Amino acid sequence: MSTRGLILGIESSCDETAAAVVERGARTLSSVVASQIATHARYGGVVPELASREHLRAIVPVVREALAQAGITLADLDAIAVTAGPGLAGALLVGITYAKALAFAQGLPLVAINHLEGHIHAVLLNERETLPCPGSPQPCHPERSVAESKDLHFGFQVTTDEESALALVVSGGHTHLYLVRTAHGAWTYKLVGRTLDDAAGEAYDKVAKLLGFGYPGGPWIDALSRFGNPKAVPFAFSQIKAKVYLAGKVPRTKAAKTAPIADLDPRFLFSFSGIKTAVLRYVELHNLRPEAQARAARLFPHNICHSEQYPQSCHPERGAPGPPATGLRRWGGERVEGPAFPSTPPQTKEEALALCPQQILDLVASFQHAVVGDLMKKTFAAAESLGARRILVTGGVAANRELRARFTAEAARRGLRIAFPTLVLSTDNAAMIAAAAWPRFQSGEFAESSLSGDPSLALGR
Ligand code: KG4
Ligand code: ZN
Repeated sequence: MSTRGLILGIESSCDETAAAVVERGARTLSSVVASQIATHARYGGVVPELASREHLRAIVPVVREALAQAGITLADLDAIAVTAGPGLAGALLVGITYAKALAFAQGLPLVAINHLEGHIHAVLLNERETLPCPGSPQPCHPERSVAESKDLHFGFQVTTDEESALALVVSGGHTHLYLVRTAHGAWTYKLVGRTLDDAAGEAYDKVAKLLGFGYPGGPWIDALSRFGNPKAVPFAFSQIKAKVYLAGKVPRTKAAKTAPIADLDPRFLFSFSGIKTAVLRYVELHNLRPEAQARAARLFPHNICHSEQYPQSCHPERGAPGPPATGLRRWGGERVEGPAFPSTPPQTKEEALALCPQQILDLVASFQHAVVGDLMKKTFAAAESLGARRILVTGGVAANRELRARFTAEAARRGLRIAFPTLVLSTDNAAMIAAAAWPRFQSGEFAESSLSGDPSLALGR
């Protein structure tokens, strides 16, 4: 075992097989992500059985690639960290089983990490890598002594015993608000808000699918919204009433199951199923469905459209075999193997208008404006109410341009500090898992050999 503090992180909770080597929770030596987007895009969403199969195929080469890029072997590692939940049961099982086998064979400790904690640590990892040490113009380097490194990396810029941060984890599976604190290197998370139904990213994906754009939908709507009028369609979010959940209504979605709702302030609860339905109504009212179906057929001829929103086949070749569906994506987003995505979001107004009419651009811009506005309203209200001077926004939807710009401006207006992960660290990756494992490794918080995946694993009850 080395003394470098090298942790191999493994992430397989949804549709990305990822492995990364991170030194002392502060320096990424490698981060490899094998995306399954090409597999699931044909279905307009993640198919759990296919996800498990793809993880099985990718896990060994991805881990090998991560070790090779880091220039180390298994013998150099100090620990292995793995996502224990929440996520898809079969997908989690692949990563956990492989991590357990590796840890056992190498005699290494295993650290179990909650995926949501990982997303929060993506922001913290970024900061440790890029911000200067307090009192020093140099970046924090893990080559410093352990004590020094500990002082620098825990509590640095983020929180102290007196100061807490509010974290918004906003992705395809989650829209959760946590109060994050650190004391003597240990992190604690208190759930203060979350969605009652769909996650924000799920709403993006479903609206994009309804309108005949690609999967995942977030990057499409993000790109198209730039060319639309955000005030064209007045979508509104209603205030969630305390009575709704106190009356014993238990949320049924996967997002809602990951955390209990009792004791949460209704001002910090989200709901995104309503706006999804509002977009559907708008589409029906304006007879936009045929146009959307024609676009889907043109852009994605191999897609299998089988949702209730597309009761008919969107293409005569329904079920026809699509392109081969594998692909390794390197840290930084470079694809090193596999086919290009079937089609990518437009970058100019001309490209956008070639794809859809201005009415659709206005619709998606209005949808995005409303979603970002609702996320902002509740996040800043929670920060103010809880006295958090700092906000962390993370998860796939944190990659959104409008979200970053409006959150940044509002934080500046209120005199709050705000941080986002880089785009690559916003979506699922294993560097965030390895980074989150470092404090747990230091305090000897290791997983039992009986560890298994928990699809509804909660953080900060
Ligand atoms: O964190 P992530 O990779 O996986 C989960 O843990 O869910 O997030 C994926 C989600 C998808 O719903 C995707 O549509 C959304 O993040 N997303 C975006 C953007 N990029 C990805 N949503 C809005 N704008 C984006 N630029
Ligand atoms: Zn995620």
